[in-house]
Amino acid sequence: MPLLDSFGRVADDLRVSVTDRCNLRCTYCMPPEGMPWLPRSEILTYEEIDRLVGVFMGLGVHTIRLTGGEPLARRELHVLVEMLAARGVPDLSLTTNGVLLAEHAGALARAGLKRVNVSVDSLLQHRFAEMTRRDALERVMDGLRAAETAGLQPVKLNCVVVRGTNDDEVVDFARFSRETGYEVRFIEFMPLDADEAWTRAAVVPSREVLARIDAVYPLEPVQHGPEPATMWRFRDGARGAIGVIASVTEPFCTSCNRIRVTSDGQFRTCLFALEETDLRALLRDGATDEEIADAVRAAVAGKWAGHKINDEDFARPKRSMSLIGG
Ligand code: GTP
Ligand code: 5AD
Ligand code: SF4
Repeated sequence: MPLLDSFGRVADDLRVSVTDRCNLRCTYCMPPEGMPWLPRSEILTYEEIDRLVGVFMGLGVHTIRLTGGEPLARRELHVLVEMLAARGVPDLSLTTNGVLLAEHAGALARAGLKRVNVSVDSLLQHRFAEMTRRDALERVMDGLRAAETAGLQPVKLNCVVVRGTNDDEVVDFARFSRETGYEVRFIEFMPLDADEAWTRAAVVPSREVLARIDAVYPLEPVQHGPEPATMWRFRDGARGAIGVIASVTEPFCTSCNRIRVTSDGQFRTCLFALEETDLRALLRDGATDEEIADAVRAAVAGKWAGHKINDEDFARPKRSMSLIGG
């Protein structure tokens, strides 16, 4: 039986956060001083994650994405990848900031990772350093090349667009996509930053991003599945592709197939969920796989229609982005 909610949506795409820690301090995510990191004992072990993934696969989940914080900040991540690959996960991927990717891409690919999404918010060294509060663009670029060489494809880039900060670079990113073949996805800034500096004025609507690119490099739509990104290709046949993730101005909640487990083992049915189910307690209190599956089924059955960013009664979740996993 697939994981069905009361609106008829099937949850088959699980995002697993492996750590709350990070080696960058992106302004749209973390404060400059970082977050109070969770104690090690509260973080799921690789064995616990592997067992949960087994339960989720039994419930019809076929896509697993590892997230953070920064997932490569956790030691020996390739060991977990190997465990999950041995389970035959059909689509096993990683979302990373890319800083440590050059060192790990080969081992990850050998362990069975299929592909990576890498956050790159600016192609300019000084601006990248401002936005992430670390001067690491060059290492990320090395990481992108290493991923490609290791066969982790397609390589996708995530660029969170913030008005007045990096929105003047969207055409440069499109050119970069044409030159490298990487798929560049522009993400609308969401109210999940720990600093709570988010304002609607800082959101650049995806429609505007597409119009700016289309004026220079004409685009045409590409059919896509249930993923949040809407995809476009270049009309002149150049390689590369453009995606937009318009969570704020064009929410895609009605077709959402996502569920999440945080690094401390809390199950969330939405990025913006206000409630969680404590799977870690079940794991550590000796629950059977069937009991864990029942808890997951019940939580998914109660999944809400969608986030309320555009409603008056919108309330931020207690967790900010790095504590959820993106
Ligand atoms: P693909 O399978 O490659 O399409 O991955 P993805 O785009 O889902 O994953 P990624 O981790 O790269 O996420 C890119 C952006 O999409 C991040 O800002 C996520 O927070 C956002 N995103 C992913 N899933 C959801 C979701 O269920 N709801 C919303 N609102 N945003 C999401
Ligand atoms: N709004 C939109 N996207 C965000 N990300 C992190 N914080 C935010 C935010 N406030 C993105 C990261 C990463 C992905 C997992 O989520 O850039 O690519
Ligand atoms: Fe780290 Fe990702 Fe948050 Fe940036 S968005 S600070 S890379 S967890």
